Amino acid sequence: MELKTAIQKRTSVRIFKNENVPVSDLKEMVRLAGLAPSVNNFQPWRYIAITNKDLLNRMADIVAGKIAGLPLKKTVASKNIVTQVTWFSTFFKDAPVVLALVIEPYETVLESGVNLSHEEINKIRNYPDIQSAGASIQNLLLSAVEMGYGACWLSGPMVAKKEIEEILEIKAPSNLLAFIAVGKPRSEPRPKDKPNLANSMKIIE
Ligand SMILES: Cc1cc2nc3c(=O)[nH]c(=O)nc-3n(C[C@H](O)[C@H](O)[C@H](O)COP(=O)(O)O)c2cc1C
Repeated sequence: MELKTAIQKRTSVRIFKNENVPVSDLKEMVRLAGLAPSVNNFQPWRYIAITNKDLLNRMADIVAGKIAGLPLKKTVASKNIVTQVTWFSTFFKDAPVVLALVIEPYETVLESGVNLSHEEINKIRNYPDIQSAGASIQNLLLSAVEMGYGACWLSGPMVAKKEIEEILEIKAPSNLLAFIAVGKPRSEPRPKDKPNLANSMKIIE
């Protein structure tokens, strides 16, 4: 598949066929995700593939509980909004596989030359660890399309980041960043319209 085709075909897929994703396909997606650019070529990511249904249900229940515990605005719409957000943050439980992306600590070159902590440098450089992970996730999403799968990037479940980190035994300084649900799409994905270029680009000559 042409890269342009994969980019144009990609859309977030949230409803999947009840079909396992072979480990060899997952490995290939993660291999391609690993070819993304990263800060100092540190590749500060690790993917944990979760197919265990009990575990996925448990994590989804915790996420739902966390959202239910958030302070509700006193508006007519707020209950519906929370119901929607809960679905968009928990549908991963029905995906054949969920990849949890963990950011691993990286070293900055600057760290060895200036008297600032790693955290301070990461902050003033605008979180290159998170930027690198984003590039990797996008590679993964496009690879999934090319291989006939659909996927969805999720940050919603991160409301229960601490609890999920405990369950998945992710210990500091490693840091859970996002989930990616992957599987065969139940129906033909239809990419939605996107804002036109005029709104997303400015040229300074
Ligand atoms: C950082 C990030 C976080 C996201 N979190 C969620 C999420 O928690 N749940 C969800 O259903 N979709 C999530 N999405 C998917 C977006 O809703 C989706 O990309 C957007 O609506 C555009 O649609 P498209 O991916 O089909 O082009 C997330 C996407 C990104 C990039």
